[in-house]
Formats: sequence, C-alpha cells, structure tokens
Amino acid sequence: MKTNTVRIGVIGAGFVANFHRVALGSARGIELSAVYALKGAADLAAAATGGGLGETKVCGSIKELVEMVDVVAIFNPNFARLETMQAIVDAAKNHPLLGLVCEKPLGRTIAEAKNMVGLAEEAGLKTAYFENQIHMPAVTKCRAQLAQVASKMGPVHLTRSAEEHGGPHMPWFWDPTQQGGGVWCDMGCHSAAVGMQMLTPENKPPNFLEPVSVTATLALLKWGRNPWLTKLQAMGVDYTQTPAEDYALVTLKFRNPETDQIVIAQATDSWMYDAPGLRLLMEAMGPGYSYNVNTLMSPAGLFISDAAAEAVKNAELALEKSQANRGSLVIQPNEPDLYGYVDEWRDAMAAFKDGKDGLLNFAYGEQIARLVAAGYLSSELGKTVTMDEVRDDYVSLIHQGKGLEVLG
Ligand SMILES: NC(=O)c1ccc[n+]([C@@H]2O[C@H](COP(=O)([O-])OP(=O)(O)OC[C@H]3O[C@@H](n4cnc5c(N)ncnc54)[C@H](O)[C@@H]3O)[C@@H](O)[C@H]2O)c1
Repeated sequence: MKTNTVRIGVIGAGFVANFHRVALGSARGIELSAVYALKGAADLAAAATGGGLGETKVCGSIKELVEMVDVVAIFNPNFARLETMQAIVDAAKNHPLLGLVCEKPLGRTIAEAKNMVGLAEEAGLKTAYFENQIHMPAVTKCRAQLAQVASKMGPVHLTRSAEEHGGPHMPWFWDPTQQGGGVWCDMGCHSAAVGMQMLTPENKPPNFLEPVSVTATLALLKWGRNPWLTKLQAMGVDYTQTPAEDYALVTLKFRNPETDQIVIAQATDSWMYDAPGLRLLMEAMGPGYSYNVNTLMSPAGLFISDAAAEAVKNAELALEKSQANRGSLVIQPNEPDLYGYVDEWRDAMAAFKDGKDGLLNFAYGEQIARLVAAGYLSSELGKTVTMDEVRDDYVSLIHQGKGLEVLG
C-alpha cells in the first residue's frame, strides 16, 4: 500500500462498477488503479481517470490486476463468482491484499456462498460483502435517531422492505440458470438483508438475530405474457422454456437470542414496477415508534412535454431504471449516496486499514444466501420452511432451469 492511499482494482466494468466509480469520488484516500473486464474496461478507466480517481490501468488478467492493487472488488456477473474468486486467491498468494469486496449476491446457492467464504478464509483475506441498502444514510440515520427510544420502549418488531423496478438491464439477469433465479435472488437478497438489519437492535451485530422460518410466494406475473415475453425472447431469454419469477412476497421470521422475542420482516420485490424508476421502500415498526424510507420522494423533479421529448437522450441520468423520457420525472441528485454505495466503501476502507472485515463480511453474505434459498424452497413446497429444512446442497428448481414445474 502506498502511504495512506488505497489502490483499488475492480473486476467487471458494467452497470454496478460504474455506479461504484461515481461513489468512489466521495471516498477519501483511494485510487481506482486498475480494472479487468470482458467488456467496458477502457471506458470505465477513462471515466475514472477523468473523474480524478488516479491513473486507472486496464489489465489483461485478474493476476495482473491483483499485483497492482491493495483491495480487489468483484463486480462481474453472478455466474462468474467462483472462477473469479479462485483466480484472485491464486494471485494473492504472491501478493497479499488488504481486503476483498464482493457485490451481492455472494453466491447463487448456499454451496457457492460457502465456497466463497472458505476460499477467503484459506487465503487469510479480510472481506466486505457489499449490501448497499444496509449502509443507506436514510436507514442508518433513522436507526441512530431512534436508538434511545428503542432501548427504552423495545426493539423494532416488524419491518417491510421492497425493491422494485421495471426489469434488469442485461439478458444474464433474466436467465435463471446464469443469475441464480429471478427477482427474489437478484433483489430479494437486498430486501431480506435490510429487513433483518432494521429489526436488529442498534448495538448488536448484523448477524445477531436467529433466522427461524421463511414463507414465500414467488410468481411470474408479467414477463411470461406477450408482448413482454417476446421482448425477452429477442434478448435470447425464453420464459416459455426456462422462466424465472418476476414477483416475490416473502415473510421472514427471526428470534432474538437474548429475549426469545419473535420479530418479522416482510419483503416484496418485483420486476414489474411500471412507474418512474427504481423504488426502495422501507418501513420499521417498533412499540410506540416507526420510520420509513421511500427513495422516489425527492425534493427535485422535472417535466418534459411530448413536444420537447425528442431532445431527451437518456432519462436514466436522472434516476436508475427510469422507464420514461417524458412527463413528470423524479430526479435524485446523488444516487450513489442515497443507495448507500458511498458509505459501504467508507466502512470497508476503514475496516481493511484496521486489519478487520467490513461490517458485513462474506460469512454474513452466506447467511443471506441461506435466507434466499429458504424462500425458493418455501415457494416450491407451498409451505413455511424452517431454516433447518434448507440443506447446504439445495439448488432451486428455477435456478436449475426447471421453473415451469413451479411457475406454471
Ligand atoms: N448493489 C446493487 O444494487 C447492484 C446493482 C446492480 C448489480 N449488482 C451486482 O453486481 C454484479 C455485476 O452486475 P452489473 O449490473 O454490473 O452487470 P453488467 O452485466 O452490467 O456488467 C458486468 C461486467 O462484468 C464483465 N464480465 C462478464 N463476465 C466476466 C468475467 N468472466 N470476467 C471478468 N469480467 C466479466 C462484463 O464485461 C461487464 O463489464 C452482479 O453480481 C449484480 O448482482 C448489484
């Protein structure tokens, strides 16, 4: 590590890597020194250098990248997790790293997530599992503000969390055999994690609550029907053969190990939110107090008439997953901050410099993979499942490409 400056290398240069590039502009003492990706690396490097993040080099291999940096971040698709991790671990034998970051989900299955944890432990790597929603300033500030109230009145007993938008931007997300499932794997991992965190007392670690049981309804409501079905087929994804769920409603029950109190998180996720763009909705109910977060509430908005719409190139500059280029548009001036990307970097960097894991480590990511798997099993069996019913080698039918058996 150069004095005080942490050199970061990112693997993957697509949507999320570019979000993180912008977020890193708000973190101190870092350089985005290297990028390796199958596509988009040169553009990301140019934007990073142009944005003041140092001289960003495009690498030809993961080994070359690891040798240039202090911290590596895995930002490529879910189906490449394990091969990417193995290559990092191999390279890190000769070039010890300060820390390793991985975007959600840690693995598409419990087994993959366990493997990620095992490989990191064997290599002695400090880890940070990137679940941005737990770091959202709106959530952390509400929790801090209510900490005293909660300690007097009792902890939060019910949370509702939702992540919804109109559907992913790349074909591999839609393909359950590549992504790991549908919206429950892709976005449910966020909602389960933030729901559990909002239930967790402020002075306790993120894995404090014991998961008890999960009850899920997963369905394919929109994208299995025309004209949407045909749009997916044009991308090479055929939901008449290998469907995935575009809707998830999941109830997760947890036990407080100190008091035996049962608390509940409700998660709702969908790829059919035909509304202004990405919406994150959180609600926490405690005895005598509550808080809520809605990321579509902004002090800024704009309007574009039909007559003026021809001049608009990309409404996604205003808001992630924007679906319209005219009418009333919501603007969020600083999405990387709003969604928690900036604070997850701050947390990881501070922890790695202290020789520690981030607030959320890979073992935590494995716990989330278990909750996600429990949701798929519950929906397949049509009943509530307890956590001990979810075996380590379970692979959902939807992920196996057998979604027709359950989404009919
Ligand atoms: N936290 C969030 O809200 C959030 C949002 C979006 C994506 N993600 C996660 O980030 C990861 C990447 O998603 P994305 O939207 O950026 O995907 P993307 O398809 O937009 O970009 C993927 C990038 O990885 C590269 N790539 C593909 N295979 C590779 C391989 N084998 N080796 C190296 N590079 C490879 C691609 O060329 C591209 O640059 C996924 O795991 C996804 O779940 C998280």
